[in-house]
Amino acid sequence: MSLQDSAVYPAPPEYNIFKKKIQEFTGIDLDAYKYQIHRRIHMLMQRWQMKTYDEYYKTIANNPDKLREFLDYLTINVTEFFRNANRWWEIRDKLIPQMYKEMGHQRLKFWSAGCSTGEEPYSLAILALETKVANPQPVLAADIDQGVLAKAQQGVYQKRQIANAPKEWVPKYFKEVDANTIEVKKDVKDKVKFKHMNLIKDRFETGFDLILCRNVVIYFGPETKSALYKKFLEALRPGGFLVTGATEQIFDYKNIGFESAGPFLYRRPK
Ligand SMILES: C[S@@+](CC[C@H](N)C(=O)[O-])C[C@H]1O[C@@H](n2cnc3c(N)ncnc32)[C@H](O)[C@@H]1O
Repeated sequence: MSLQDSAVYPAPPEYNIFKKKIQEFTGIDLDAYKYQIHRRIHMLMQRWQMKTYDEYYKTIANNPDKLREFLDYLTINVTEFFRNANRWWEIRDKLIPQMYKEMGHQRLKFWSAGCSTGEEPYSLAILALETKVANPQPVLAADIDQGVLAKAQQGVYQKRQIANAPKEWVPKYFKEVDANTIEVKKDVKDKVKFKHMNLIKDRFETGFDLILCRNVVIYFGPETKSALYKKFLEALRPGGFLVTGATEQIFDYKNIGFESAGPFLYRRPK
């Protein structure tokens, strides 16, 4: 059936196959969207004159620009510096000092998993500088979307993106480009290593002290989430922490092997 034939709602059977393939490829469960996501995807296909869902899936899977556009269209790249600010001050004032104390050294390894355009890993890098983390490149920043990674590497942002940063940090860690735009300074950039990665399919590095995976799994199905959290558990060193987003409780954290360390904070047992 062509797209033109199927321009009636509800979704045709081909859409279910498309949905399954997208879930296998990205982890994203299109059924988890509240609004008529099928309709939005259909509009995107029409824009590119794609005749079938299969053609569109293959295009997304093989073309990073189209994948980017698809993810953009689902509006899942939204981020900012020090998002949910209190969480960041907890990492700075409690978690990092606790890790220093327990480990007896300051070489910490952090990971921003699903880093989008870079605001989260650069926020982590700034905390690393503030708290004198000794690892020269403490932050791994990974995302499936090459477009956001390219933007992240430039490190150029609108000033409003840093509204949560303490005022004195602005001249310390950013340089002004023009009245509305700032750029992250080189010593912050040097603390971050960007990597293109699909969290669902790719193997993870190990030995992390702290993993942030926030606002990434919102559209993943329950089994995908559990499998991903299990991979994070194994990527952490014993005693390492996983921080999830402000609404992302892990209900089966005990089965997965985590301890609860506070709201939306999980720990690999020591
Ligand atoms: C809303 S942003 C979250 C950014 C940041 N963590 C924050 O909380 O502000 C979600 C990011 O997850 C990425 N993402 C979604 N599925 C992914 C996957 N399977 N592997 C890697 N990254 C993924 C998206 O490309 C997007 O950049």
